[in-house]
Amino acid sequence: MSEPTELTEPAEVSGASPLADRAAELDAADPLAPLRDRFVLDDGVYLDGNSLGALPAGVPDRVADVVRRQWGELRIRSWGESGWWTAPERTGDRIAPLVGAAPGRIVVGDSTSVNVFKALVAAVRMAREDGGASRDEILVDAATFPTDGYIAHSAARLTGCTVRPVAPHEAPAALSARTAAVLLNHVDYRTGRLHDLPSLTATVHAAGAYAVWDLCHSAGALPVGLDEHGVALAVGCTYKFLNGGPGSPAFLYVRGDLQERFDSPLPGWNSHAEPFGMRPDYEPAKGAVRGRVGTPDILSLLALEAALDVWEGVSVEAVRAKSLALTDFFLECVAAHVPAGRVTSLTPAAHAERGSQVALRCADAGEVMRRLIERGVVGDFRPPDVLRFGFTPLYVGFADAERAARVLAEVLEEF
Ligand SMILES: Cc1ncc(COP(=O)(O)O)c(C=O)c1O
Repeated sequence: MSEPTELTEPAEVSGASPLADRAAELDAADPLAPLRDRFVLDDGVYLDGNSLGALPAGVPDRVADVVRRQWGELRIRSWGESGWWTAPERTGDRIAPLVGAAPGRIVVGDSTSVNVFKALVAAVRMAREDGGASRDEILVDAATFPTDGYIAHSAARLTGCTVRPVAPHEAPAALSARTAAVLLNHVDYRTGRLHDLPSLTATVHAAGAYAVWDLCHSAGALPVGLDEHGVALAVGCTYKFLNGGPGSPAFLYVRGDLQERFDSPLPGWNSHAEPFGMRPDYEPAKGAVRGRVGTPDILSLLALEAALDVWEGVSVEAVRAKSLALTDFFLECVAAHVPAGRVTSLTPAAHAERGSQVALRCADAGEVMRRLIERGVVGDFRPPDVLRFGFTPLYVGFADAERAARVLAEVLEEF
């Protein structure tokens, strides 16, 4: 865990205006700044894209077309003519370059929770095939977003495993001949800490276990390199940095050489080799399709597909560079505007350990966030005392970061 960092005012910064000027310069020089026009936003500061991404401007018309023409006029024909049936894999291929995967490795559907279940049980089954029944332990990120822990416990009960919570950086020391699977978050949802995916993956796999990564807070925010780093299985949501909309379906990645071995615990008819054969026996399809379960949620899926258009001509590397510059600048503005000792940053100072959010520990955090939102600065509150500010480089600018820090200081003066 990162230690809370006391934010101290830099000597050379004396007031709001130099920082506001710097913000204006940084925005003017920012090659990604024009992308904000691809979204529907107001003049507030939206720093909650790590919970629900803003609406991409092209989505409403696309969804209207899906509803009115594809459903309303073409009706059942749309499963083929409008590409509904293949949308889970097609949309997976659109997400693939954003997380460093080749085409054919990602399928979109279900929630992250459901995909964690599929991936974890499949991981345990593969570990057992390789190493026998003595592989009976699942290591789970001790600070995980709760759903992963709940699902891991159920997956463990079903597979005869036990769950052992570990801090991600302590996972290597906890590995043993009993470890079947290791479920880790790439970026911690509370602190914004980025974990070392390449090295942890290599260590887990060298121990004969399978790494399952939850990418909810990194997909669309920073390069992941799934293929490059040999990740076995990964899941992620699409409603945060991928801007797919409320409840948009999640994704599941299965490494190319493991697809034939992926034994889904939810083998629905959509993952059958011959889904319209209506056969009583189950024969899994090849490739990413094997991760499907039942009928896809077409309206949400096609809204997501339209949302992914905002990535046209945008590299995740450029997004990452801006994200780090934004979070650095926000921390600098907080240090300058907020009286010393009033907030402490839980987000690591080191770039290699930082995701795309800043988490500030603060007394009365719930009430502070309520007042921030009232003044047009939207972040969120995580109990008991954390203010979270998510930075989506596609639509957040440096002036937003400066204003958020300034309004935070104003609000804190009221306490
Ligand atoms: C890290 C992480 N994992 C899982 C989830 C839950 O995802 P879902 O609601 O799609 O199951 C979230 C939701 O915010 C999350 O942040």
